[in-house]
Amino acid sequence: MDILGISCFFHDAAAVLLRDGVVIAAAEEERFTRKKHDYNFPRQAIQFCLGHGGLRPEELDYVAFFEKPFVKFERLLFSILQTFPRSRRVFQEAMLTWLTDKLWVKHLIQQEVGIAADRILFSEHHLSHAASAFFCSPFEEAAILTVDGVGEWATATYGVGRGSDITIFQEIRFPHSLGLLYSAFTAFLGFEVNEGEYKVMGMAPFGQPKYLDKVYRLLHVACDGSFQLDMDYFTFHHSTDRTYHHKFVELFGPPRDPQAHFFTQESGYPTYFGEKPGNFAELARANQHYADIAASIQVATEETLLKMAQHVAHETGLRHLCLAGGVALNSVANGRILRESPFDELYIQPSAGDGGGAMGAALWAYHMVLGQPRTFVLEHAYWGEEHSRGAIEAFLRQHHIAYQRFDDEEKLLHHVVARLDAGKVVGWFQGRFEWGPRALGNRSILADPRRADMKDMVNTKIKFREPFRPFAPSVLVDQTARYFRLPNPGRHYPARFMLYVVNVHEDQREVIPAITHVDGTGRLQTVNPQTNPRYYQLIKTFGEATGVPVVLNTSFNLKGEPMVNTPEEAFSTFSRCGMDVLVLEHCLVEKPA
Ligand SMILES: [Fe+2]
Repeated sequence: MDILGISCFFHDAAAVLLRDGVVIAAAEEERFTRKKHDYNFPRQAIQFCLGHGGLRPEELDYVAFFEKPFVKFERLLFSILQTFPRSRRVFQEAMLTWLTDKLWVKHLIQQEVGIAADRILFSEHHLSHAASAFFCSPFEEAAILTVDGVGEWATATYGVGRGSDITIFQEIRFPHSLGLLYSAFTAFLGFEVNEGEYKVMGMAPFGQPKYLDKVYRLLHVACDGSFQLDMDYFTFHHSTDRTYHHKFVELFGPPRDPQAHFFTQESGYPTYFGEKPGNFAELARANQHYADIAASIQVATEETLLKMAQHVAHETGLRHLCLAGGVALNSVANGRILRESPFDELYIQPSAGDGGGAMGAALWAYHMVLGQPRTFVLEHAYWGEEHSRGAIEAFLRQHHIAYQRFDDEEKLLHHVVARLDAGKVVGWFQGRFEWGPRALGNRSILADPRRADMKDMVNTKIKFREPFRPFAPSVLVDQTARYFRLPNPGRHYPARFMLYVVNVHEDQREVIPAITHVDGTGRLQTVNPQTNPRYYQLIKTFGEATGVPVVLNTSFNLKGEPMVNTPEEAFSTFSRCGMDVLVLEHCLVEKPA
């Protein structure tokens, strides 16, 4: 039985193909259209999924959409009416977009995919999130928490999964939303909503949560983790371009200028920002205020999530927790839930945000609508498109690109390790691209984590990221305990997907400075020989040569672009930045020294 899951029209659009309850292909649309966070109907992702499954559209048994458009539209109209006339512009924009496309999803799917109307199913947004975590997890029973910006009405739910069934027993409704609260601070701190949330999280350790009491003036949290926002401080419920009210500005001061560089005394002023300004100290002091605000909203988010986790643990009496929704990508909060909540193990799938809803919808249809038993665990993230060795060589030859072809894998690995050891930055391209926002060794840029200057080097050559954003480590799962405070690392799926931030052991921080954040933590990826044997072998070889089986791993893209999919995109990226070496499967391209 073949089920196609689809999510689109809000955040990341995606498609997933489920065959007899097993995921066989999954991809976000942005990887094909090259438009970051593309939310349009995922034509190309669908085409890829069907192609991978060797299916014609009419052979699909069902298509499952990740939410109910009419209920979402009802919520939109209801909040517009409640805040009219302030919401006039929201109303105009909503009419334009909803009445053309968003509302008629069934018709659109019929047209685009070519499937009968009675084969199209609609899940609920948060049920899709819940299903995307629980049905991918290895747990027979688990508590479930979903937390995001907003779906139809729900912004967070508490639930429980047992076998092929999920029950949602409590929900928090719009406009009270932890995700939208975090996004309001993201905008206030000068970053793009739905993109800059990681930056707020990265900035937080440079500050102190001095304004926690002020955050709690906007956010009232009950013992069970349910919360209410004081809507006097926000405008996201009636505005299209502003998320917070001027009362918010009265409380926290003027927002940060999005064009200004962010740095503090502690982060320093990186060379790729240009010449250090004469009034560095003064600017750093001003920025410190914003770092303190970032720390405050981050701590409030963590505390709220912890209360929610404690409540769902108490209500279900279970020791396993499945987390989903955009807020589940907050890897610092996830680390705290693991350490401080009653749960022994968590499961979060790599695409925990709305893209993952496509997977959740397909799994919901298979298990909860069709009543089929579970046989599948999402063990890894490699579900995207791959490109054959033949196609790679044909591309290189066609464009007269000089390359070395390695038929001996060991020789290739030793060559790459020697380059990493010499301080070179390597683009590493292999197999199927990753599902979700993280590069996990198939579309990654790699560097030596032992060099304190490597973070600046990768930024200067390629990434140009803000100096407060850390780079992540990939570490052999069996060597993880040597460097990171994560007992039994093999048990923790979120660590496979780079969704935990944990402490680097104090005595190891100087060993791997390029991936140790200012607060002594690291957002690690544990690498397993079963799920990515080639990447495992590369890191093992690096470990044998240097004594440190860890590499710095960042996503294979330039700033503002989606991660690469094809060899052409990889080579183009390599050519447009200071990357030294490019590995395309068994072929190696090197810039002259
Ligand atoms: Fe969502």
